[in-house]
Amino acid sequence: MPHQPSETASDAGSASVLAITGVEKTFLTSRGERLKALETTNLELKVNEFVCVVGPSGCGKSTLLRMTAGLESCETGSISFMGTPVVRPRREIGMVFQEYSLLPWRSVLDNVAMGPEFAGGSRADCVRAAEEFLQLVGLSEFAQSYPHELSGGMRQRVAIARALANRPELLLMDEPFGALDAHTRILLQRELLKICQKHATTILFVTHSVDEAVYLADRIVVMSPRPGRIKRILSVDLPHPRSRGDARYAALSQHILELLES
Ligand SMILES: Nc1ncnc2c1ncn2[C@@H]1O[C@H](COP(=O)(O)OP(=O)(O)OP(=O)(O)O)[C@@H](O)[C@H]1O
Ligand SMILES: [Mg+2]
Repeated sequence: MPHQPSETASDAGSASVLAITGVEKTFLTSRGERLKALETTNLELKVNEFVCVVGPSGCGKSTLLRMTAGLESCETGSISFMGTPVVRPRREIGMVFQEYSLLPWRSVLDNVAMGPEFAGGSRADCVRAAEEFLQLVGLSEFAQSYPHELSGGMRQRVAIARALANRPELLLMDEPFGALDAHTRILLQRELLKICQKHATTILFVTHSVDEAVYLADRIVVMSPRPGRIKRILSVDLPHPRSRGDARYAALSQHILELLES
């Protein structure tokens, strides 16, 4: 029988980590025109939920993440983390950007150690944390290298390690695996699910890969073209570890592709 996805705005019951309520965004372009990037958006994430966002290029996915990270103001509406409005970046909210965002003057190890350092950890603790997460992303031997000495995919892995080493409660990830080879991508997808379970991390994850969304997510947010709005939210009721050979996996992927195309 084909998989019938259920459609929900949020699961009732457990505590809300993130509440995006009535948020819209219009930019003023360099030519002085108003550009509506995001229509009214409502989304709630519960503790330890993994929510993926898919949608066409330019529909406001990165804008939504940047607003959630406190890097961009909301035009209307509000965004709350644990019941408190997000008005500036917070330590509990981590972000992996779509572009590589490492500090070029710091070694790979010292980039990853930044979060623990800001938290006031001893040098030994910071190094230990950085080494643990560098090992996770397969870059231990590049700990003393500098970002310009790495490939694009390697830099992105450092950025992922840096975000994880900060042990965020809410992790915002903007196409974090886009630049990786297929093998590394699958490995990191698995590791991310494990970390998410182990540390009860809540994740809001943007991806262009429908397959990746179905593999990872508890719920998938499908967005419309610009100005972006949430077209549909689908619950993925498949147990982990998910098998890409499962007929329900394929049916759900197909359903999402049709939603994106319609
Ligand atoms: N600072 C800005 N000033 C003006 N317009 C902006 C700014 N940032 C984003 N936009 C516009 O807002 C819209 C949404 O951009 P955004 O980066 O959020 O899209 P996206 O969904 O992340 O796209 P992609 O999948 O290509 O990364 C785009 O039309 C973009 O041109
Ligand atoms: Mg983007």
